[in-house]
Amino acid sequence: MSTKQRVILTGGLGFIGSHTAVELSKKGFETIIIDNLDNSDAKVLDAVRELCDQEVYFEETDLKDKLATEMIFEKYDNICGIIHFAAHKAVGESMTQPLKYFDNNFNSLINILSAQLKFDIPNLIFSSSCTVYGETEILPVTEETPFGYTFSPYGYTKQVGECMLDHFTHANKNCNVISLRYFNPIGAHPSAKIGELPSGKPENLMPFITQTVAGIRDELSVFGGDYDTRDGTAIRDYIYVVDLAEAHVISLQRLLDKKNEHRHERFNIGSGNGYTVLEVIQSFERSTGLKVNYKIVDRRPGDTEAIYADTQRSRNVLNWQPKHGIDDMTRTAWEWEKKLRGIN
Ligand code: WQD
Repeated sequence: MSTKQRVILTGGLGFIGSHTAVELSKKGFETIIIDNLDNSDAKVLDAVRELCDQEVYFEETDLKDKLATEMIFEKYDNICGIIHFAAHKAVGESMTQPLKYFDNNFNSLINILSAQLKFDIPNLIFSSSCTVYGETEILPVTEETPFGYTFSPYGYTKQVGECMLDHFTHANKNCNVISLRYFNPIGAHPSAKIGELPSGKPENLMPFITQTVAGIRDELSVFGGDYDTRDGTAIRDYIYVVDLAEAHVISLQRLLDKKNEHRHERFNIGSGNGYTVLEVIQSFERSTGLKVNYKIVDRRPGDTEAIYADTQRSRNVLNWQPKHGIDDMTRTAWEWEKKLRGIN
């Protein structure tokens, strides 16, 4: 019987989940990873265990299966919190497959909340997203910036998810939630043993860049060169994945220490800096000395022109701040791709 505190990580073999498992381990937490391997690889588990000095349990389960989900909560004791990463998360893909996103993202969340209630687990960290802001003229966005209309079904599932958590925490006084609104997580662990590992053709910019330079993709398509930005390409707030992982540990500790001011708190987890797509390419070329083969094409449906975070609340209330810059992110992303593909 373990006396160590355990944290359930749904989607824990994914990009952010795997990095968070490592950071939790450093603080003495054991982790219970629940993943259906829909968009992750079982190989990641070996790497996570190599990087962790605490126990990492793994349960291959689809969270849409309520009974199977509850059986996992039944099996383990000392669960002090849940970090709910599991969701489909590609903005572009969600435009063509809205029902896949609604079915998975809503039903997984409902089953996790039911289990949290049934097994009396007080703390939940929810993977939310800057996409909840939708199309907004107000930049940088603060946590008080109202939800804008989001063209992407993915963003809609995060808006509704946060509203569900408002009602859930209002009705259940023992349940405390922090929603972390991720901006664009990129980069990889400094060991290059874990990183972004999209299945199939990457939807996201960074893995597409690294796969293009690795020769797996012929050319990067830059979606849109006619935005009203400094170089015509869209602006995003890129955040180093390890800095983002640390934000989860700090948030969980905040709830464990009962320092939260409300039962559902929200924080922007971004760098506070906006970079255009071309500037990310320039950073990659600067940090690796390699050229990216790209061409500018039409805009991608569902994309917003620009978004980046006001991070004052995360810095002053959560006491978290990013420690790495864009060149660290692009460099570590390439180090991971090289190790993954056996490139010297
Ligand atoms: C970034 C920029 C594209 C691919 C992501 C996550 C989402 C959420 C928000 C957490 C855009 C451009 C991309 C390509 C390109 N994070 N691009 N060519 O759409 O901002 O969403 O961050 O919740 O989960 O997916 O990220 O990497 O797809 O796009 O030009 O091949 O790069 O148009 O401007 P996005 P992305």
